[in-house]
Amino acid sequence: MRLTHVSCAAGAGGMVDVVEDESAFYSKAEQYWQEVPPTVDGMLGGYGNISSIDISGSKKFLQKFLGDGKGKTGTGCALDCGAGIGRISKRLLLPLFRTVDLVDVTQEFLDKARPYLGEEAKRVGNFFCCGLQDFQPQPDRYDVIWIQWVIGHLTDDDLVEFLRRCRGGLRPDGLIVMKDNVAYEGVILDEVDSSVCRELPLVRELVRRAGLQIIYEERQENFPEEIYQVHTLALR
Ligand SMILES: C[S@@+](CC[C@H](N)C(=O)[O-])C[C@H]1O[C@@H](n2cnc3c(N)ncnc32)[C@H](O)[C@@H]1O
Repeated sequence: MRLTHVSCAAGAGGMVDVVEDESAFYSKAEQYWQEVPPTVDGMLGGYGNISSIDISGSKKFLQKFLGDGKGKTGTGCALDCGAGIGRISKRLLLPLFRTVDLVDVTQEFLDKARPYLGEEAKRVGNFFCCGLQDFQPQPDRYDVIWIQWVIGHLTDDDLVEFLRRCRGGLRPDGLIVMKDNVAYEGVILDEVDSSVCRELPLVRELVRRAGLQIIYEERQENFPEEIYQVHTLALR
């Protein structure tokens, strides 16, 4: 899931219009990420300079929900989905949660995560190397499941099923946060990294199909003009 697109096809009727071969869709993405350097710039497709703005926006967003009172989300354990080298774990999740698990399909990124996170890596519970389409979160384990810049790598049906499993992975008052690019209209295929960018109404529909509700939604501000709009959705 890159922040901009170069080579693309657009479809108005959803993913079925743009993704013809599901298994090639997944294997091409895996091959793409295996060639990407395990750096912050690599994670953000050359936009490493926006990482701090991104993390500040995410921190403000998440802090609305965390705390001790009734209905507040706990700070015991978080899951970083499509974590890459752990850019979000390092600056957002490890400073706020006692334990963080990382899941990503690219083993090389998870190998890099340990040195990248440094001392704090000792508070990582698990480094799972797995595609989200196959990942089963442990039931009742997570206060927050953070899913950023990766949903475009899942087909509609796999995303719905993944979100459903995430729901089962939440502790009481737990929260799923999805932060990603959104298209102005329809679904845009990026043939370079083999991902799609969906319009917001379609994302909302997939969330609903997973049996989740959007409890809060925000657009990330202060990103460069030329990249996709990025929206953050809190779900439970
Ligand atoms: C754009 S990077 C974002 C990394 C991280 N979320 C961040 O914001 O710094 C996309 C990440 O998704 C991972 N990825 C791609 N397809 C995946 C899949 N099907 N399941 C899990 N991870 C996947 C890649 O290996 C890569 O680490």
